[in-house]
Amino acid sequence: MQLSGKRVLVTGGGGFVGSHLAERLVSDNDVRIVDSFTNGSPEWVPAEATVVEGDLTDPAVVEEVITDDLDVVFHFAADKAVDSDDPNAQFGRNNELTERVLARMEAVGVGNVAFTSSSTVYGNAPQPTPEDFAPLEPISMYGASKLACESLIAVYAHSHDVTAWSFRFANIVGPRLQLGAVIPDFIAKLENDPSTLEILGDGRQEKSYMHVTECIDAMVHAIETADAPVNTYNLGTRTTTSVTRIGEIVAEEMGLDPEFEFTGGSQGWTGDVPRMRLSIEKLGALGWRPEDSSDDAVRRATRELLDERQ
Ligand SMILES: NC(=O)c1ccc[n+]([C@@H]2O[C@H](COP(=O)([O-])OP(=O)(O)OC[C@H]3O[C@@H](n4cnc5c(N)ncnc54)[C@H](O)[C@@H]3O)[C@@H](O)[C@H]2O)c1
Repeated sequence: MQLSGKRVLVTGGGGFVGSHLAERLVSDNDVRIVDSFTNGSPEWVPAEATVVEGDLTDPAVVEEVITDDLDVVFHFAADKAVDSDDPNAQFGRNNELTERVLARMEAVGVGNVAFTSSSTVYGNAPQPTPEDFAPLEPISMYGASKLACESLIAVYAHSHDVTAWSFRFANIVGPRLQLGAVIPDFIAKLENDPSTLEILGDGRQEKSYMHVTECIDAMVHAIETADAPVNTYNLGTRTTTSVTRIGEIVAEEMGLDPEFEFTGGSQGWTGDVPRMRLSIEKLGALGWRPEDSSDDAVRRATRELLDERQ
């Protein structure tokens, strides 16, 4: 599907990735956004987009925003905390709002959905992990809800007239990334105490980081080139960055030389997958490759996040 001249709804379009996507699409699409603003910010929404503030677990909000004139729904709204205080409620909410969105799409005849899934669906899998790796054994309720939502999407694609793109993101970084993600957390910790950086776990957790601009390029490319009923793609970089290395990059960019203190253990928190690198060969076969390494993405995002604070 060509993404030009389309009527597009971005759920969670006031959030980190959704607002960057909206910025990318507004120049040649009619972009509408729905967001509860429990995260994200109305200030990130481009002026040309139409915004409804509302919670998608409310059926009235879903009816208001999913209308029969839409061409595609980018379904990004989710509670994304991997270390949620109430993971069971998070699981229920994320599935409920996705099911409501899909049911309403079917009811009014909207035929395309792009969904932001996550590397967490794989759990502790061998790397690089391809899309057809099985069995999928997530280790967090967040990962379980992404897998459940992918299953719901598959049902609507195969049993109803919906084309779906499910994107399994590595760690996406860039401007507007908020506390709870490692780079903003390290910046805040070093602003508070420039002499010491506390690192959760043993610092050897090793994951792939991708810049949000490349993430959006890759999504747009896949939507414009892949047209199976369900198109599942990993989005990431070929390389990884350890948490200790992120600490070094953040400290370098801040002009600091702190002592690192490790809380110990191989995970940052219960449910944290310590090692993640996704195979991106399937995306490569569509003709898209990332330019940045994982370290490049981390450094670029650190600079941008520091600039935001000026
Ligand atoms: N950022 C990453 O590294 C990453 C990695 C894997 C997957 N994802 C997924 O990508 C999507 C976007 O992530 P993000 O980093 O931009 O997160 P984000 O929290 O910045 O954006 C999500 C937006 O959804 C909104 N939202 C949440 N629940 C809602 C509800 N019930 N009704 C309406 N709006 C609601 C929030 O207010 C927020 O603005 C999420 O689905 C997330 O799970 C992100």
